[in-house]
Amino acid sequence: MSVAKKDYKKVTTNTLAEMKQNGEKISMLTAYDYTLAKIIDGAGIDVILVGDSASNVMAGHETTLPITLDQMIYHASSVVRGINRALVVVDMPFGSYQGNSLEALSSAIKIMKESGGHSVKLEGGSEIIESIERILTAGIPVMGHLGLTPQSIYKFGTYTVRAKEEVEAEKLLADAKLLEEAGCFAIVLEKVPAQLAQKVAESINIPVIGIGAGAGVDGQVLVLHDMLGMTHEFNPRFLRRYLNLADDITGAVQNYVTDVKSKDFPNKKEQY
Ligand code: KIV
Repeated sequence: MSVAKKDYKKVTTNTLAEMKQNGEKISMLTAYDYTLAKIIDGAGIDVILVGDSASNVMAGHETTLPITLDQMIYHASSVVRGINRALVVVDMPFGSYQGNSLEALSSAIKIMKESGGHSVKLEGGSEIIESIERILTAGIPVMGHLGLTPQSIYKFGTYTVRAKEEVEAEKLLADAKLLEEAGCFAIVLEKVPAQLAQKVAESINIPVIGIGAGAGVDGQVLVLHDMLGMTHEFNPRFLRRYLNLADDITGAVQNYVTDVKSKDFPNKKEQY
């Protein structure tokens, strides 16, 4: 069932706060282009994340580090043109906010002005709190991101589950509280033990949206191309595939190639 033009109410950061209060789970997916953003918005998704995973999924890089601010703005503006209802969150790319808070603010303003997105997401806790606070002073809604933070992959060394040890778990909980106090409207929690994620969600009043963080949080996010089965190389335990599009596309293209070569396509009705 798609959301008809008239019966939608735009999702805002207040909507997400109300959803948490009412115990209604928040659905979030990534998108990087107009066409897929339009489809998932029409299908009723609450939040669309223009993730820096575009660096992997759209550009084929090994990590999220290479994607630039201008490339993120290109993807985000394409998504914004496709949506009516969803809240659009735009990832601030690596290098656009870690330097100092003034640089962070100017990157966030550029994203908001040039993409039309509704909010930004930054990875990290206490290390980047000044940047988060300064962006918030400009009236720009901020989503935090804790746990596995892919922009720090060369510091971690692997993409394995984070915060399994007590010291890291305590820091994560403290960071979540810090982000709430600073004024973030939500937090993404990536690849942490389900018990810890639930504790975080129960300890703060803003929504916690998990990816590989179990069912005890306030919402779930997946990378669209992964859940549609367009990517096959990536097989984490938390990923549920709802389609096998890579196989469907392969089959469709093979049929097209066969039809062209056999001169079956185009037929008389498919020409002028
Ligand atoms: O960039 C991204 O897709 C993300 C999600 C994994 C949360 O940050």
